Amino acid sequence: MQITNKFTLTLPARSSNESFARACISAFATQLDPTIEEISDIKTAVSEAVTNCIVHAYKEQVLGKIYITAFLQDNNSIKIKIRDKGCGIANIEQAMEPLYTSVGGERAGLGFAVMESFMDSVKVSSVVGKGTTITMTKKISPRISVNG
Ligand SMILES: Nc1ncnc2c1ncn2[C@@H]1O[C@H](COP(=O)(O)OP(=O)(O)OP(=O)(O)O)[C@@H](O)[C@H]1O
Ligand SMILES: [Mg+2]
Repeated sequence: MQITNKFTLTLPARSSNESFARACISAFATQLDPTIEEISDIKTAVSEAVTNCIVHAYKEQVLGKIYITAFLQDNNSIKIKIRDKGCGIANIEQAMEPLYTSVGGERAGLGFAVMESFMDSVKVSSVVGKGTTITMTKKISPRISVNG
């Protein structure tokens, strides 16, 4: 698979940057000529991953950073890596179970389930005390031109 374009973005892990990260990735993905639905799926998945960095990795402190890299690939897919250097996840399988949350109360425990349902693949790698990387890909369907 050839990479045809790439950008990287590093942001402080503050909640005000969640919508900025989402907007950047969606603007970049536009180069693949996605449908509104495909863009909306990507935005939703990015939102969940970035929010997790803010609320879980760094426990809502503003000190940490979120490292985002996005690649466009020649099979018309986008690959997005969202990395933090926060607390890490001890049990990835458990964390990815729908409805599992380590934070009671307002969290539904559905972030990973949402990422998996809106993207074609979601991979999580994590080391406790070092941080977490989420790698997600989505293929954008080819559009048929009505103008010939
Ligand atoms: N970047 C991360 N760093 C550390 N822990 C994480 C990270 N992302 C997720 N987790 C852990 O995985 C659990 C499940 O994440 P998930 O996004 O599915 O649910 P949630 O964030 O708890 O709830 P919701 O996303 O519905 O608000 C979290 O409760 C947290 O314990
Ligand atoms: Mg979440």
